[in-house]
Amino acid sequence: MTKKSPTPTLRLLALAAACVVCGTATAGEVEVLHWWTAGGEAKAAAALKATLQGKGHTWKDFAVAGGGGDSAMTVLKSRVVSGNAPAAAQIKGPSLQEWAREGVLANIDDVAKAEKWDTLLPPVVADVMKYKGNYIAAPVNVHRVNWLWANPEAFKKAGAKVPTSWDEFFVAAEALKKAGIIPVAHGGQNWQDFTTFESVALGVGGNDFYKKALMQLDQGALKSATMEKVLTTFKKVKGYTDKNAPGRDWNLATAMVIKGEAGMQLMGDWAKGEFVAAGKVPGKDFVCAAAPGTSKAFTFNVDSFAMFKLKNDANVKAQKDLAAAIMSTEFQEVFNLNKGSIPVRLNMNLAKFDDCAKLSSKDFVDTAKSGGLVPSIAHGMAVPSAAAGAMQDVVSQFWNSDKMSAKDAMDKLASAAKSK
Ligand code: GAL
Repeated sequence: MTKKSPTPTLRLLALAAACVVCGTATAGEVEVLHWWTAGGEAKAAAALKATLQGKGHTWKDFAVAGGGGDSAMTVLKSRVVSGNAPAAAQIKGPSLQEWAREGVLANIDDVAKAEKWDTLLPPVVADVMKYKGNYIAAPVNVHRVNWLWANPEAFKKAGAKVPTSWDEFFVAAEALKKAGIIPVAHGGQNWQDFTTFESVALGVGGNDFYKKALMQLDQGALKSATMEKVLTTFKKVKGYTDKNAPGRDWNLATAMVIKGEAGMQLMGDWAKGEFVAAGKVPGKDFVCAAAPGTSKAFTFNVDSFAMFKLKNDANVKAQKDLAAAIMSTEFQEVFNLNKGSIPVRLNMNLAKFDDCAKLSSKDFVDTAKSGGLVPSIAHGMAVPSAAAGAMQDVVSQFWNSDKMSAKDAMDKLASAAKSK
């Protein structure tokens, strides 16, 4: 618990007061599937739990560890297939439509209308939360994926400068290596490989290439000289990771940067949640910078909770209360301060947010105007899950193989993109 948390007595009083308003007759239970188990993530999940409990309902935690959520999605599928869906599950992007098509999601349009979500959300987000015009999910945040996290002390020791291009990245990586510091903290898990790949694709190929290759899945772009350069650059990054990278969790990679064992990490801003949870201050103890070559772009990753159809009225009420609470200004602030993301609700006061969040917020708005705002393919926002999953596998095979050429990888990637 943080120092700022209310005492147990205060919390109980708040709960009791909330229950006078809500009435015990309507108290329900919400089982929530998520994968937020790392430091900053867990604090953010605790804020969600407290918000629901504040409405007098019971929170049933359904946490499935594993960054990026691949394991959580596997578990969710088996639960739904066996007719035992949770009330709410962390589902994102095009997958929301896939689940809605199965007929298992609840329509929460009454909540959205009452709370005026259409006026509070950027259209690019609102559209994804709807199926056939009705809201089926509630968004919590906007994560930016194309970040580079750096330890300024390590950079000072190495006499290196935080890179703004991929050429500079490798100059800095060499300098860090010479200084005895692991240049790049990486966790060799498929989703982390894909996260790095996506930032390299954006930085090396530019916004238009990213859109053609990784959003439209254009065969010509997937099999182009630019893609070959992207793959070659991506593989070069591996040479600056350590031998213990395979299988490492992302938050342990972040911890290496926090401690100065490693110089940098390419990761979305949930990494900031780890720095902050460790008491580190941006600009002083760590640096956030756009991933090389991507300062005019923003790969967005919006976390959201899909609501499943339920039978019990009290639980439906609890589920709707959760959806409404998720979009409140109070929740958006406390949740995102811990999560490292920015509020998804428009026009929020960001006074309590740090400079990384303020930069993210400014870039979100600017890139929406300039055309540089793109969905993250590595985090399930850009293409259907079958194509994303198959492409992710190819990217990791290429990363791990000593034999596969960039040309071979390119061909495999192009055919993986056709997966349905
Ligand atoms: C992302 C998710 C983030 C964060 C990250 C690592 O896919 O959107 O909220 O949890 O995985 O677990």
